[in-house]
Amino acid sequence: ERLPALLAAMPKAELHIHIEGSLEPEVIFALAQRNGVALPYADVEALRRAYAFSDLQSFLDIYYAGASVLLHEQDFYDMARAYLAQAAMDNVAHAEVFFDPQTHTARGVSMETVVRGLHRACVDARAELGISSSLILCFLRHLSEEDAFATLEQAMPLLEHIVGVGLDSSELGHPPEKFARVFARCRQLGLRLVAHAGEEGPPAFIWSALDVLRVERIDHGVQAVHDAALMRRLAQDRIALTVCPLSNLKLRVFPELSQHNLKRLLDAGLAATVNSDDPAYFGGYINENFTQVFAAVPQLTAHDAWQLAHNSFAASFAPEGQRRAWQ
Ligand code: HPA
Ligand code: ZN
Repeated sequence: ERLPALLAAMPKAELHIHIEGSLEPEVIFALAQRNGVALPYADVEALRRAYAFSDLQSFLDIYYAGASVLLHEQDFYDMARAYLAQAAMDNVAHAEVFFDPQTHTARGVSMETVVRGLHRACVDARAELGISSSLILCFLRHLSEEDAFATLEQAMPLLEHIVGVGLDSSELGHPPEKFARVFARCRQLGLRLVAHAGEEGPPAFIWSALDVLRVERIDHGVQAVHDAALMRRLAQDRIALTVCPLSNLKLRVFPELSQHNLKRLLDAGLAATVNSDDPAYFGGYINENFTQVFAAVPQLTAHDAWQLAHNSFAASFAPEGQRRAWQ
């Protein structure tokens, strides 16, 4: 292994973590029991065996099944509090946490239940662990823009607890333009904007996330290397890419971790960061992503490690004074 002590010890921000993707199989079964929810898997081992993905959609089907055990405010609290404890152990000073409310409201769980539980965990983790965190509401792109507007409406009384909005779920067939109006409305409301683009989808989706949705960061974005003009744009505007190496490996965006283009993105001057995406499903939290990608790509240097951590704070939505103190 290369630089493992440095990678673990350096302070960092995590900017791409789906909180529902932090539910470990043991926790899914414990919550299923606690809440009387039936699961289509006999036991923890059977569920773990199902974690053999061929692409994004094959993962999403299992990820939404896992999230079905979350019913009460305490469930959302426990999930987020456990993630933030793990992140603090990985020397994450600040986390911006995605959540997928439509996965829950579709099952009759209220927006208030979801946001209050997650927010209370953020408050307690700050007091007890010193980690700061904020929440980013993600719209599910396989659903309609009308559905996204209804979701925004439900979140209106809770916006003081939400720093921004994102766009996730099935990318292919669901271009960013589909959500142009709801993102424009969120922008008017003062919310910060991000979107998944260029994970499986083409560079054109990154262009439209930037120019139609007007997002400030691109989640994944690794397909940008196929468009030289886009690479220049991302570098010039210092648009951060929240890269997730183990996710890319498990969802077969790259056949081997040694083929990952993180080094190429950094060398082209892009503000790449390293993140965990769905750590319970993809084999590790943020430090595991750092150590495995550095082990697989020997061209990555200690300076790259410092740059990745620096980029994570620079691209965060924390207040300016706080960002400066971390950098
Ligand atoms: N891509 C899209 N949607 C998601 C992901 C992802 O990597 N993880 C959870 N929802
Ligand atoms: Zn993601």
